[in-house]
Amino acid sequence: MRQLIPDLSSIDGQSDLETVYALPASRHVRANFISSIDGVIELKGLSRTLSGPADRAAFMSMRAVADVVLVGAGTVRAERYGPIKLDDAARGRRVERGLQPLPGLAIVSGTGGLDPRAPIFAASQRPLVLTTALVATERPDLGQVADVVVCGDDRVDTTFMLDALSERGLVRVLCEGGPTLLKSLLTDHLVDELCLTLSPVIAGSGHRSLTGDRSFEPPLTFDLVGLLEADGMLLTRYRSLDRE
Ligand SMILES: NC(=O)c1ccc[n+]([C@@H]2O[C@H](COP(=O)([O-])OP(=O)(O)OC[C@H]3O[C@@H](n4cnc5c(N)ncnc54)[C@H](OP(=O)(O)O)[C@@H]3O)[C@@H](O)[C@H]2O)c1
Repeated sequence: MRQLIPDLSSIDGQSDLETVYALPASRHVRANFISSIDGVIELKGLSRTLSGPADRAAFMSMRAVADVVLVGAGTVRAERYGPIKLDDAARGRRVERGLQPLPGLAIVSGTGGLDPRAPIFAASQRPLVLTTALVATERPDLGQVADVVVCGDDRVDTTFMLDALSERGLVRVLCEGGPTLLKSLLTDHLVDELCLTLSPVIAGSGHRSLTGDRSFEPPLTFDLVGLLEADGMLLTRYRSLDRE
């Protein structure tokens, strides 16, 4: 893998990648997505159909430096999300950095449309479910497999949600999607950084895109702070200029 921005160098292995994706100790919300050249984020309903070894390596290294992985319930359902796993070496490097061996996992759901028997609830590490007061009352079964955090009465308040994570020491947030969750975070100006892998594919119409039909007026602006290349994929890292 080649680094092109901020400087020219070769990136060899996960440890180098974790240095590229290192995060500050203060609150930081990073969103990580992959899209086709024409902005499509799923093929056959899955993002992995666009991915490749370099993107997967970056995906794992971003997990390896985060306090918590934040994901929308739609992505959990579509991608059959399982518990977060890292290899022994990555876990060891986390511990050396003073982190827990694994990042936490937080699922956002407004309606509680989650199956407590789903693979994501099978780990010894209980995920957080960030939801509404109504769901917390009506779905006591979720409380048996997850720590349910109320982030609003009848809708999930994203600012409250990030504050609730911070209160638990989870300040370095990696949002792995999906597009509905990304739209809310962008609308509320809560995204510090967008890591977008451009897959060398044109998919055409009939697929989900990064922000769907949501329009941002004025447009949100970003600075390109990192660029890697491998396997014909471009792994970009954009810093939000609207958060400064
Ligand atoms: N290319 C990529 O990098 C990438 C990454 C992730 C996902 N995807 C793709 O995206 C597709 C799924 O799209 P999606 O829009 O359904 O994903 P999503 O954003 O993960 O899920 C939407 C659902 O998450 C919950 N949610 C998200 N934001 C919320 C908010 N602010 N407040 C309350 N609830 C919120 C709601 O769950 P409830 O319905 O339970 O209320 C909502 O219906 C899949 O095809 C997946 O493969 C692609």
